[in-house]
Amino acid sequence: MSYLKFNDVQKDYEGVRAVSHFDLGIERGEMVALLGPSGCGKTTSLRMLAGFVSVTSGSIFLDGRNITAVPAYSRNTGMVFQGYALFPHMSVAQNVAFGLEMRRLPKAEIGRRVTRALERVRLSALADRLPRQLSGGQQQRVALARAIVIDPAVLLLDEPLSALDARLRHEVRAEIRQVQQETGLTTLMVTHDQDEALSMADRLVIMNQGRIEQIGQPAEVYENPANRFVAEFMGKSNFIGGTVVEAGRFRCAASDTVFSCDTSRFTPGAEALLSFRPERARITATPPDTISGANVLAGELKTATYLGQSIEVSIATAGGQSFNILLPNSDAGLAAGLQPGSALHVSWAPADTRLLPV
Ligand SMILES: Nc1ncnc2c1ncn2[C@@H]1O[C@H](COP(=O)(O)OP(=O)(O)O)[C@@H](O)[C@H]1O
Ligand SMILES: [Mg+2]
Repeated sequence: MSYLKFNDVQKDYEGVRAVSHFDLGIERGEMVALLGPSGCGKTTSLRMLAGFVSVTSGSIFLDGRNITAVPAYSRNTGMVFQGYALFPHMSVAQNVAFGLEMRRLPKAEIGRRVTRALERVRLSALADRLPRQLSGGQQQRVALARAIVIDPAVLLLDEPLSALDARLRHEVRAEIRQVQQETGLTTLMVTHDQDEALSMADRLVIMNQGRIEQIGQPAEVYENPANRFVAEFMGKSNFIGGTVVEAGRFRCAASDTVFSCDTSRFTPGAEALLSFRPERARITATPPDTISGANVLAGELKTATYLGQSIEVSIATAGGQSFNILLPNSDAGLAAGLQPGSALHVSWAPADTRLLPV
């Protein structure tokens, strides 16, 4: 059995099913992110593991022990919240020591462990400062030191970066990941930010309305989304509705155009949703060579928006469908020459095409 296991866990608040059929195994030392829009049940799942919220049905196992009915204080979880929740009148070292003092550990051991935790988050030099004398990123590192100093069986992070500005967020996420890898702590993180989840976690759990939509490694989830929700939540996608004609061939319902793609998960005649990523497509004024085998759509330019790193191009087909294409900045010259109404061809490789269930 996995080190940490949610077994068909469900949570109902009066009349509201916050989490249902939650099944997840996490291996020792792994960092997993629960990712999904606000209200999808991420915090509730984390809090059921911490023991702050009771489980309506199902069970949770940690290191071979059924902890479903174990009170929060004896589950040995270390938690970092969105706000730092530091004691304002205590120094950094006192904040970190607090949990150990509550556990009545010997003074010498508390001193040793606090020193080591502050080294881990590289705050040794600031041990005597008060929280208000620290930056937001440093305060969050104190919160992290306070969570790891108790040597938790699992580290829980609930939107740990959301109080920080964009630049700091980038820095602190790398620090948290480094501390997690150095300590080898099994970690469950909650976030609504896909970049954060992609860059920090070994595996992602994509949630929607209390349910798990997909579990997988970051690249796996981005490259092979299980369904439309995941494809749209993890980045952007273009969609075309239609039916599978035969193996490898899909017909668009609106235009009768046929596209090539892997259809192996569908039978001929099945309705499906073709999708491709905006950054995997190209645009050209003339139709691309047919021998390239690319999928091609004809349309006209609606808008081209300069975004710095990239240029977002919106294209409308004669049938009224619209598609978004993301060109690299190196194509800025090409994009600058385009006028609204210019006839264009969008092309992308069959290998960059995914068929999803409708
Ligand atoms: N204490 C509570 N009482 C009633 N409903 C709650 C409570 N906490 C959360 N919920 C509801 O449960 C659902 C999931 O909430 P939550 O786990 O906080 O989502 P997330 O962390 O993904 O934003 C939401 O619909 C929310 O309104
Ligand atoms: Mg939340």
